[in-house]
Amino acid sequence: MSTPQTFSALQVMQDAPVIPVIVLNDVAHAVPMARALVAGGIRMLEVTLRTPQALACIEAIAREVPEAVVGAGTVRSRSDAQAAANAGALFAVSPGYTSAVGQACRDVGLALLPGVASGSEIMMAQEDGFTQLKFFPAMQAGGPAMLKAWSGPFFDVQFCPTGGVTLQNAPEFLALPNVVCVGGSWLVPTDAVAAGDWVRVTALAQATHALRKSASISA
Ligand code: 3PG
Repeated sequence: MSTPQTFSALQVMQDAPVIPVIVLNDVAHAVPMARALVAGGIRMLEVTLRTPQALACIEAIAREVPEAVVGAGTVRSRSDAQAAANAGALFAVSPGYTSAVGQACRDVGLALLPGVASGSEIMMAQEDGFTQLKFFPAMQAGGPAMLKAWSGPFFDVQFCPTGGVTLQNAPEFLALPNVVCVGGSWLVPTDAVAAGDWVRVTALAQATHALRKSASISA
């Protein structure tokens, strides 16, 4: 009941060390999956718009799991942003950046984490006022070394690396001063969802909390 209705991109990033990237094929899985993540201490949930059921899943989580803050991933167009907001998403994540998507998210009141993979894309997002960005695909596009290189010219940008990030390599990212959190699909494995193994999802969520500590020790 007391959950605030708006979140900034920074608040979305700061809530936990990992934003789970979720792909759901069955709306019946949405609520138990969200409850399992919340039970493991993860409440910012990125449900990707990659399946026909994604919007219905966002709607179900927004309605039935008030402890969760559901966002939409894979937002690539104005209509994606509009549909996500209508379904009850409170933030958006995009795999790349266009000014049209940035403006659309503003128009519908969604905090946006725009995806970038190059200096030019960072500059375009910054020109439009976005300084918290998703680095995607993080491992494929240069990994921690790329973020170190960007920390000079883009000293005022904060990143959420996503793509190829795992429980094993996450500490290397989280130890970087320009990384606030990481994103990853490993918290919600396809086979666990198919089997309804919510205990495993909760355990995977719980395991991510050690990341913040080990990151600050090695920082
Ligand atoms: C995605 O959008 O697919 C995310 O980057 C997830 O990548 P991962 O499966 O490598 O975590």
